[in-house]
Amino acid sequence: MPRAILLLLLSLTLALAQSTTSTTLTTPTIVQSIPGSKYTYFGCWNETTSVSGAGGVRALDGGTSEVLQGQMTVPLCLAFCGGGSATQYKYAGLEFSRECWCAQHISGASARLDDGACDTACDGNGTTVCGGSLKLSVYQLGSSAAVRITYMTAVIALVGTILFHLL
Ligand SMILES: *[C@@H]1O[C@H](CO)[C@@H](O)[C@H](O)[C@H]1NC(C)=O
Ligand SMILES: *[C@@H]1O[C@H](CO)[C@@H](O)[C@H](O)[C@H]1NC(C)=O
Repeated sequence: MPRAILLLLLSLTLALAQSTTSTTLTTPTIVQSIPGSKYTYFGCWNETTSVSGAGGVRALDGGTSEVLQGQMTVPLCLAFCGGGSATQYKYAGLEFSRECWCAQHISGASARLDDGACDTACDGNGTTVCGGSLKLSVYQLGSSAAVRITYMTAVIALVGTILFHLL
């Protein structure tokens, strides 16, 4: 291949890599889990206050909530819903950068959306996602970690079996 074409390809690759990097820096990222917290990310869910048939009830209803304007972060909300408010709630949801909603169930009227629908950065940490306008970044207590342990155990058992037969 002529050298000029090689150089062109190389610079195109570099330009592409750079644009990918800058996109990553400006878009807030989803926090999947926090070390030491029992909650794991459960998806982006629709707020139900204006969904017809939901009667104005919230997606995460019947629990408690707090608004920390200028300060809200995912770890603060998970700590609040995880016992900081006396009760440990199964679900913690961040909405509109600064709201934290805790509940034992998600309303049947709420729908899981594409992750990208939750697109507002946390007031207290601009690099992370805290829901969106009428959308909640929802975290669920426990279950995902349990599923992951079961899965890891299965993988370890499988690898063990393969090694046993090979050696
Ligand atoms: C999400 O909620 C809005 C109202 O806030 C509604 O118009 C929309 O249809 C809902 N989307 C889904 C997928 O349920
Ligand atoms: C923002 O969140 C990221 C990801 O969880 C974390 O690594 C970083 O330390 C946080 N920054 C602040 C200022 O809390």
